[in-house]
This record gives sequence, structure tokens and C-alpha cells, in this order.
Amino acid sequence: MKLEPKLLRALVANQKDPEGIWSLFCEAGMDAARLRELNSVADSVTPYSRVILSGDSECEIMLARWAPERICAPHDHGTSAGWVFYFDQEFEEYAYKWRDDELVQHATHRHLPGSYTQVVKNEIHSCKTSGSGMSLHIYFPRIEKMRVYDLERRRTLVVSDNCGAWIPRQPEQVVKETAWKQ
Ligand SMILES: [Fe+2]
Repeated sequence: MKLEPKLLRALVANQKDPEGIWSLFCEAGMDAARLRELNSVADSVTPYSRVILSGDSECEIMLARWAPERICAPHDHGTSAGWVFYFDQEFEEYAYKWRDDELVQHATHRHLPGSYTQVVKNEIHSCKTSGSGMSLHIYFPRIEKMRVYDLERRRTLVVSDNCGAWIPRQPEQVVKETAWKQ
């Protein structure tokens, strides 16, 4: 299911206004109940299942259904920025930053169902929910070259556009791999 071009144009025009974005969704019949129908089942292995509602170059929209307690890998969104809307469960978001060649977690943010948060360029974070949460991710422009950070094997992976925030299981989803300093 893909969103109408008219709705996409309106989202791009309102990209700085999260409440306006959510109103546009509801006006188009894409309220929380409808979104739940569009992605109701979590993946059996990865932290969340992904449904892409737009892969337009100016605006990427991804609907995630989370598996309980399965944290995603720290990742960034390249030079894209946007908003995440949370539904159904409380979410915990972990913020990371580089310190002396180590990627360290430096803050935890809690997000209640019905809330939203901003995603800024190049920030690194990870996320989980305790139950089967749903989140709606809207980025401007479409994310390209998302980086996933592998804390265990100390490497940064640029992943393909069909991969979410986890270490790819299929080798062809790794576009580039860079080892961290030892
Ligand atoms: Fe993210």
C-alpha cells in the first residue's frame, strides 16, 4: 500500500510541523486504527517488521511493528531528518555518541503512546518497546546509506535500503563495512 502523491506533496510542504503531518494522515483516513491494520504482525527474528508507505525520493514513510523487548541496533539516518510517532506501547530510545573512538550510550528517552519525537541529521540512536508497539517514521528526503553500528564486532555498516536497523543477515545487504579503531 502506497500513499497518494497528493498526500506526499502535502507532507513535504509541512515537514517542519509534526502535528500538521499527523492531521494530514488522519484526514486521509490513515489514523492509528488504519495503520494498525497495515502492519499488525512483528517479525519473528528482527526487532520490527517494516511496511514502506512511501519510497518517494523526497519523503520516506515506514511503519514498524515491534517485537517485545527486541532492541534495534544503534543507527543513524544519514542526512535525512523527520519525525517518529509512537503507538500502542511505551518506547525507550537510547542516544549514542562517539567518545575516544568508542560509541557510548549517553541518554535514555521515554516516549508514551500517542507522542512523537524529532529525528535530526546524523544522530545515532536505538529503540525498543516492552510490548508489541507500533511506530510511524517519516523522513525527508528518503534515507540513503543508513549506517548501522555493530557494537559487538566494532564496525560500521552501510546497509541497503531494504534493511532496517539491525545487523543484516544477508551479506548482500551490507553496502560498505568499516572497522573501528582498536
Ligand atoms: Fe532511527
